[in-house]
Amino acid sequence: MSSSQFTSSVYLLTFALLLQTIFGASPLFHFCSSSENFTTNDPYESNLKKLLGNLNYQTPPQGFGFGTAGQHPYQTYGLALCRGDVGASDCKTCVNEASNEIHKRCPYNKGAIIWYDNCLLKYLNKDFFGQLDNQNKFYMWNLRNVSNPTTFNQQTRGLLNLLAKEASATPKLYAVGEQEIGESKKLYGLAQCTRDLSSTDCFKCLDGIIDELPRCCDGKEGGRVVSGSCNFRYEIYPFVNT
Ligand SMILES: *[C@@H]1O[C@H](CO)[C@@H](O)[C@H](O)[C@H]1NC(C)=O
Ligand SMILES: *[C@@H]1O[C@H](CO)[C@@H](O)[C@H](O)[C@H]1NC(C)=O
Repeated sequence: MSSSQFTSSVYLLTFALLLQTIFGASPLFHFCSSSENFTTNDPYESNLKKLLGNLNYQTPPQGFGFGTAGQHPYQTYGLALCRGDVGASDCKTCVNEASNEIHKRCPYNKGAIIWYDNCLLKYLNKDFFGQLDNQNKFYMWNLRNVSNPTTFNQQTRGLLNLLAKEASATPKLYAVGEQEIGESKKLYGLAQCTRDLSSTDCFKCLDGIIDELPRCCDGKEGGRVVSGSCNFRYEIYPFVNT
């Protein structure tokens, strides 16, 4: 996607475990594109409404949906993705919530993206399918430090590298896994890409964000790098539905 459509800085969020538990259904983050806006009664508005309606309907059964509505110059493109383990009903709830919330937060922007624990939703007035979006991105990390950062960082990278390979080799572009990290402790990880990407680009995307581990979550008990096209998460507790 054209990165100039959105602000390109990386936003840094710290999240305590407790906050995540209480506000589990709140958006993690969002960006409104500032480059182009529409006005009330603009054809773009009705196209967007149609697109979001389609995504709400299309996404839950497969966990992914994408499409377009309207004609140039009012055409809009969008996609929605649910986390790989999220069932149709929770997926539907999340995409619904995302459509409503993004409308409140970016009411007149032609492009926007919003992330939740369970899903992401993105739209733009340009065809961005199949293109790596590494511009819209944020980090989250657990405030707690591990006691042996050097080993722990290596183990984290090792697990995430495996998951990147695995995710990009499956049709769902999604993988989870766990690994023993000594003294009956375990490390849990997840990697996922939006399904408009090719397998090669999915791997490229994940590989790129894994390289940001030192900036994101150096020696932290948990962390995530979340972009418009892919994301990973690791924790020392299980966090996906099995
Ligand atoms: C679009 O609206 C945003 C506020 O939501 C504003 O910051 C931005 O400058 C506007 N862009 C244009 C091109 O008017
Ligand atoms: C973790 O380590 C950083 C830097 O070494 C320190 O500033 C921070 O206070 C530590 N956090 C906790 C929760 O102990």
